[in-house]
Amino acid sequence: MNLPVYLYGHPVLRKVSEPVTPDYPDLQKLIADMYETMYTSEGVGLAAPQIGRNDRIVVIDASPVGDSYEECRDRKMTLINPEIEILDDEPVTRYEGCLSLPGLSEKVKRVEKIRLRWVDENFQEHDEIISGFLARIVQHECDHLEGKMYIDHITPIRKQLIKGKLADIANARIRCDYPVRYAPRKK
Ligand code: NI
Repeated sequence: MNLPVYLYGHPVLRKVSEPVTPDYPDLQKLIADMYETMYTSEGVGLAAPQIGRNDRIVVIDASPVGDSYEECRDRKMTLINPEIEILDDEPVTRYEGCLSLPGLSEKVKRVEKIRLRWVDENFQEHDEIISGFLARIVQHECDHLEGKMYIDHITPIRKQLIKGKLADIANARIRCDYPVRYAPRKK
């Protein structure tokens, strides 16, 4: 089932998400729905807060950018309770977008070498060194689990310049190609 993507301005995107346990109700269905939602909206990653749930679940399918970034080729991963350790101190600047911020793309500085520990949809443990653009996608998605978005990393000048566009998203003054849920109206 395709789910609406919650947009910037919605409070669910700003909460810290809860760890997931194996008794989580209908977890496999939720993960399948998250993949469907990500593919419908043509994203390469989606975190549970973006479909309105503050739970530590991320789906990634980086294969659409596999031609530009070899480390992304055929990389599909379901991250439950992921933990990131930064392994590099040399940040790289690249453009990022986010399904919760339609129409925007901004330069974001991040390191591109991390150690990632997670469990998959079967609660099997994984521990892997991840680099390049894939490391960026992972950090972007894991930020969502902490209530953070990529615009929190951009320069104050850029933030000022896109203020109007952010307000348009938060106030439902935009149109979007995929189903979305806008922030509740302020009284
Ligand atoms: Ni995002």
